[in-house]
Amino acid sequence: MARTALVTGGSRGIGAAISKALKAEGHNVAATYAGNDEAAAKFTEETGIKTYKWNVASYEDSKAGIAKVEEELGPIDIVIANAGITRDAPFHKMTPDQWQEVIDTNLTGVFNTVHPVWPGMRERGFGRIVVISSINGQKGQFAQVNYAATKAGDLGIVKSLAQEGAAKGITANAVCPGYIATEMVMAVPEKVRESIIGMIPTGRLGEPEEIARCVTFLASDDASFINGSTISANGGQFFV
Ligand code: CAA
Repeated sequence: MARTALVTGGSRGIGAAISKALKAEGHNVAATYAGNDEAAAKFTEETGIKTYKWNVASYEDSKAGIAKVEEELGPIDIVIANAGITRDAPFHKMTPDQWQEVIDTNLTGVFNTVHPVWPGMRERGFGRIVVISSINGQKGQFAQVNYAATKAGDLGIVKSLAQEGAAKGITANAVCPGYIATEMVMAVPEKVRESIIGMIPTGRLGEPEEIARCVTFLASDDASFINGSTISANGGQFFV
């Protein structure tokens, strides 16, 4: 069944692959982006997927942006909270600003994205929430106290939302990607990246599409009995 889907950070990286995969499933997709107008315009031109610019760290901007999407595309039944940033630094060098920026975008951003759509999902008796967490929320990571805290927080969010939404036909699940070939991972110094790849039994980085396939399944009507769970897609790098 064709539904309206919102993908935050949906014009680049893993988010872009998710937006395209949901479109291929027949859904009406709205992809948000924070700042890169050029990348968003190119994405829309190439895919036909509408992009909307707002900062997920702002509740007011998220609420207004979501209202606009619903006005243009209809009630949002599927939310993929994917937008995320890194501000990596060893803890002794991490600044309060680096901590706060990551918390505001990656964690509060999930609240800001899901909260405005939640009442409508409850009223309609259907909803699919998928939060993109990370292997580093499961195992922690050197220089990522801020990022790992938010990604571990995502797991708490979906486990709680799952219990609240279940009786209303809403599911909330998380996907924990491992190291995927995106700009974010390519920004890691080459030597460090190579040593990380050496720890992945599959022997390579993952592809964004490999994450998108997990997401489209969790977002489908078929995944109705999967609620509060976490899918790890990390090439065997870490088992919970
Ligand atoms: N484990 C143990 N030690 C490590 C380490 C690691 N993974 N990485 C670096 N170090 C050590 C270095 O060997 C060095 O040690 P010495 O001081 O003894 O020489 C020290 O830590 C680095 O100190 P620097 O002062 O050089 O550090 P820096 O301030 O320049 O910061 C860094 C460098 C930010 C940590 C950089 O190495 C880095 O970006 N590392 C990668 C962090 C990472 O994996 N991020 C994941 C990004 S991808 C992502 O987040 C997506 C996802 O969900 C998976």
